[in-house]
Amino acid sequence: MPANLLDRLRSTLGDGAVLTEPADLAAYVADWTGRFVGSARAVVRPADTAGVATAVRLCTEAGVAVVPQGGNTGLAGGATPDDTGASVVLSLERLRRVRELDPVADTITVEAGVVLQAVQEAATSAGRLFPLSLGSEGSCTIGGNVATNAGGTAVLRYGMMRDLVLGLEVVLPDGRVWDGLRPLRKDNTGYDLKQLFIGAEGTLGVVTAATLRLFPATPRRATALVTLPSVDAAVSVLPLLREHGGGLLTAWELINRQALDLVLTHLPGARDPFGVAHQWYGLLEFAGTSDEVDIELEAALTAAFEQELIADAVVAGSPAQRASLWALREGISESQKVAGASIKHDVTLPIAELSDFVAEVGPRLVALMPDLRLVTYGHVGDGNLHYNLAAPADQEATLRAAAGDLTRAVYSAVATRGGSISAEHGLGTLKRDAAASYRSDVENDLMRAVKNALDPHGLMNPGKLVP
Ligand code: FAD
Ligand code: MLT
Ligand code: ZN
Repeated sequence: MPANLLDRLRSTLGDGAVLTEPADLAAYVADWTGRFVGSARAVVRPADTAGVATAVRLCTEAGVAVVPQGGNTGLAGGATPDDTGASVVLSLERLRRVRELDPVADTITVEAGVVLQAVQEAATSAGRLFPLSLGSEGSCTIGGNVATNAGGTAVLRYGMMRDLVLGLEVVLPDGRVWDGLRPLRKDNTGYDLKQLFIGAEGTLGVVTAATLRLFPATPRRATALVTLPSVDAAVSVLPLLREHGGGLLTAWELINRQALDLVLTHLPGARDPFGVAHQWYGLLEFAGTSDEVDIELEAALTAAFEQELIADAVVAGSPAQRASLWALREGISESQKVAGASIKHDVTLPIAELSDFVAEVGPRLVALMPDLRLVTYGHVGDGNLHYNLAAPADQEATLRAAAGDLTRAVYSAVATRGGSISAEHGLGTLKRDAAASYRSDVENDLMRAVKNALDPHGLMNPGKLVP
């Protein structure tokens, strides 16, 4: 790093915006899981778009790589610098302004560092809904949500982040600012440039603000935890849920017993609402504005019982009960982290293939490691499984040694069935090479061409997403 870069950053952004002490850097150079740890020469924290543009331009002029970072909750290592200590982490955490909520356009424009939950709350205060919903919503940021094309538990109804973004403001690798903050629902003026930056994981530029779609508020929620005879039933029941729920169907999530056991063991206060163990559970939610949600949920559950697609159900009778049912689902990641080593697979399949995938791949993995624990859960309504693998505490070394073979077996079953090895978490460094190996040559050429066109010096989050 040229000696004067840090001085130039300090003199333009202010002393407090540039951190270099190891104790100050620690939280920025390791990820939430603890699996990814790197080092950085500095963490730079500009307070506005102009500051981000200055920081990027100075780093580019000095030939120094930039690693954008939001809430640092990503699960693929995308926000962690490499271990050379040569790069600068560019934290967006001080870009925290809600710039505008427009009730006529039905949009909200926020800066990249605004925490997702704050956007949800701003929408609620205006009587509207911002529907993106993640277990990490108290810490992840809008910039990170855009950069990872985040998914979560309401995709079934509202789509992924890509579907919720109308416009973006982006600092390009050369330090120029692209003002694409348009609230337009229709705009056919050539390539849809904003889509390039959504899901790009900071490899093409730094998102500094976004204009997002708002939706009608859904203050009434009807929520049930059901037991399922099989994964096949979780898939087969979907048309019936749509028939009854129509536009109200918001969440359909799968949880297996191993996943529930983790939460019951590690989440304080968690309890099994059924008392008797079942292999598969589904969490169902209808959301709307009236009693209709309760009536339709009841009708859907009755029809599903009659067709033997669900075996038992607990319906939340109060907001507190609803919260405790959701805690059983949203507590899985945290509980798995507390429980010890695990291998995460965030995969998606054509929905009709889910059941055969689970039936086929489980035995193959257990053949590779007999004591393996299959922690299977996820957004079944979207065809997205978190097909995670764990082991008893005394076998963590065996799990680590077998990790490569286990992951190859999972990915190859996903690929054979026409799925994708990354549904919503992105590639980062975790899946960068595997994703490239499953793409065609044409797709790899296109990805590389886009990267080279926008970031010719390769300084924007290098080593992430594209090999
Ligand atoms: P970071 O972790 O800081 O960064 C993620 C990536 O985006 C990195 O590549 C980084 O370089 C880039 N980036 C960050 N900010 C910017 C910016 N302003 N401009 C350009 N690039 C940027 N994800 C889901 O999709 N669905 C879930 O259900 C879900 N549940 C989760 C539950 C838990 C408990 C946890 C810990 C994570 C979960 N995640 C989930 C993953 C994570 O929260 C999301 O990927 C989130 O979108 C990351 O946001 P962040 O601000 O923390 O980004
Ligand atoms: C979730 O849906 O809970 C997260 O995306 C999964 C994870 O932490 O693996
Ligand atoms: Zn998820």
